[in-house]
Amino acid sequence: MKHYKITGGNLLSGEISVHGSKNAALPILAATVINNGKSIIHNCPNLSDVRNMLEILNLLGCRAEFVGRDVIVDSSGFSPKDIPYDIMKQTRSSSLFAGALLARGKRALISGSGGCCIGRRPIDLHLRAFGEMGADIIPTGDGILCVADCLRGSKIILDFPSVGATENIMIAASLTPSTTVIYNAAKEPEIVNLADYLRSVGVIIKGDGTGEIHIKGTCTPKDGEVEVVGDRIVAATYLTAVACSGGSIKIKSIDPGHLSSVIASYRKMGMSIGVDGDEIEVSRQTRLVNLPNIITSPYPGFPTDCQPLIVAAMTTSYGIGIVNERIFENRLGHCERLRRMGANIETTGRCAVVRGVYSLSGADVSSCDLRCGAALVCAALGAKGESVVSNISYIDRGYENLCDSLKILGAKIERIELNE
Ligand code: EPZ
Repeated sequence: MKHYKITGGNLLSGEISVHGSKNAALPILAATVINNGKSIIHNCPNLSDVRNMLEILNLLGCRAEFVGRDVIVDSSGFSPKDIPYDIMKQTRSSSLFAGALLARGKRALISGSGGCCIGRRPIDLHLRAFGEMGADIIPTGDGILCVADCLRGSKIILDFPSVGATENIMIAASLTPSTTVIYNAAKEPEIVNLADYLRSVGVIIKGDGTGEIHIKGTCTPKDGEVEVVGDRIVAATYLTAVACSGGSIKIKSIDPGHLSSVIASYRKMGMSIGVDGDEIEVSRQTRLVNLPNIITSPYPGFPTDCQPLIVAAMTTSYGIGIVNERIFENRLGHCERLRRMGANIETTGRCAVVRGVYSLSGADVSSCDLRCGAALVCAALGAKGESVVSNISYIDRGYENLCDSLKILGAKIERIELNE
């Protein structure tokens, strides 16, 4: 089992570039099935979740491989087949293939894409939308089968601005010449990045980044090309690392507008944050002050993926911080781990109350999910003494070489192998 061994107390300095966004790359990779041709995806992050998606693409007959920092996909060899449960189960976002398989292969079997430790992760909004587009939705012993000879343009109102459902509908509608409209659509930057890719293959899309998206598909898709945007959650993680350990760094290759709610919150806590083009300069010289009103909400609100991160920063900030997790029903697992490091956190339901202590102490902690792991690493950077963070395979899902990046910034961190 791989772990991170971290000795806290170093002030961070230097500069670091943010890699491409996991949550932008995954839906784009799923969408490459539809164009029966080549796609070049620039700045694609080399993460375990991405490699799982490439494995699925190759299983579907679409040759997909990394060439340097790009991924090249050739979907001309696509042969429709059901994705096996054990592969679907590995990556939640495998459910994003449903829209592409339905559009191109007229059939999609969705299995194993449900629940994880942060919540049930249902796909009812995806399925309801496919039904409105003319698909038959058939529960089977192996999962839920969606079948459609020909999808039709529809007006779809989402009960909740689900990121995955918005993406699946956009992809499913991409080969349908009549127009599909999504109301109450997700507005995340990753949605806009997916729309950029779909436009490159000839789909006409308007309104991406707003709550109303119009998609007019194409019967003759072309070769596609797109540049994956910088990962806003990774950038927020580096902000949090400085919040926890102090120092001053420059974060590059990121659109600061993509994490404006996080920057605003950290500024209110007392961090000095400057933005210029695709760079963020951040420093923390004095003790931060906690905020009583962090509520996670759909973009452009405070991102749920940054909730564990700001809780980690709150543990040693002055006063009482209150965080409400409104997106996922079970996303406070990091609090128990942070308490092991000496944090004073009470949780009731989806709310965490953090009473800042002067400093945390190093401890052995295990991550329970991707962003919990990142939060524990940040907390350990500022803690007194040595911490071991285990289950870091969760972290590998969303961060390329987090250990090396933090070392560049002056952190004392090692990736170690421990025999269990
Ligand atoms: C995406 O997940 C991200 N994953 C998540 O990032 C992110 O936390 C989430 O959006 C919210 O921003 C990827 O993009 C791969 P949702 P997704 O559909 O699409 C409920 C990370 O750490 N819902 O917007 O699954 C759902 O239960 C990950 O990088 C339904 O009820 O999120 C949840 O409560 C974690 N029915 C809420 O909506 C549905 O059919 C948000 O889900 C779909 C969703």
